[in-house]
Amino acid sequence: MSIDYGPLTGLSGTFKGDKGTDIAPDPDGTEENPFREVITFTQVGDVKNAEEQTLAVVHYVLSVTRTTDNAAIHHQTGYWLWDKIKDEVMHSIAIPRAVCVLATGKAVTSEDGTIEIKVVAEESGVVQTDFMHKKAKTTSFVNTIRLKGDELHYFETTMVDIYGNSFEHTDTNTLHRV
Ligand code: HEM
Repeated sequence: MSIDYGPLTGLSGTFKGDKGTDIAPDPDGTEENPFREVITFTQVGDVKNAEEQTLAVVHYVLSVTRTTDNAAIHHQTGYWLWDKIKDEVMHSIAIPRAVCVLATGKAVTSEDGTIEIKVVAEESGVVQTDFMHKKAKTTSFVNTIRLKGDELHYFETTMVDIYGNSFEHTDTNTLHRV
């Protein structure tokens, strides 16, 4: 039987975009990094949990390169998951700072076929090392993605307690399926 990926159906294949903007914390305040990005989504099937819950599963891996000096400034992998019965979307994230996030939310499809998924994690949805908890604590995460055909747009805000302040670390990009 074929798997129903619901609102995640279009998350498949490789997307590229070179007009990303990152606002990141810096000891002197803020740094802004223009970036290019590649995201590859792979539909991996479904899983059953406790014989009750079925989740359709899409794995993704993304890499981000700063446009100005070609430095690799971010890498991320995880899953997008859809629970058809609850109509809930889950987004699990691992980043190589020893930080993991589990965000949950809903998908909405507009009349023109755009699928918007917004997921949110509070601090209880974040797992991080003692070091990060003390020095650069992620306190919340919100990600909104919008998919229309082969165009994928996202805007995400990661709140980070760092250098004595609560910093709004934002990332946005528009990518196209290649
Ligand atoms: C496109 C997405 C992202 C990009 C391009 C990006 C890039 C960056 C950059 C350039 C820094 C500053 C590093 C430094 O100067 O030390 C940073 C810091 C940080 N990022 Fe991200 N980031 C992204 C997404 C995320 C996400 C999703 C999370 C958490 C879930 C996250 C958590 C952090 C944390 C905790 C720091 C503070 C570490 C530090 O500056 O010492 N970032 N990020």
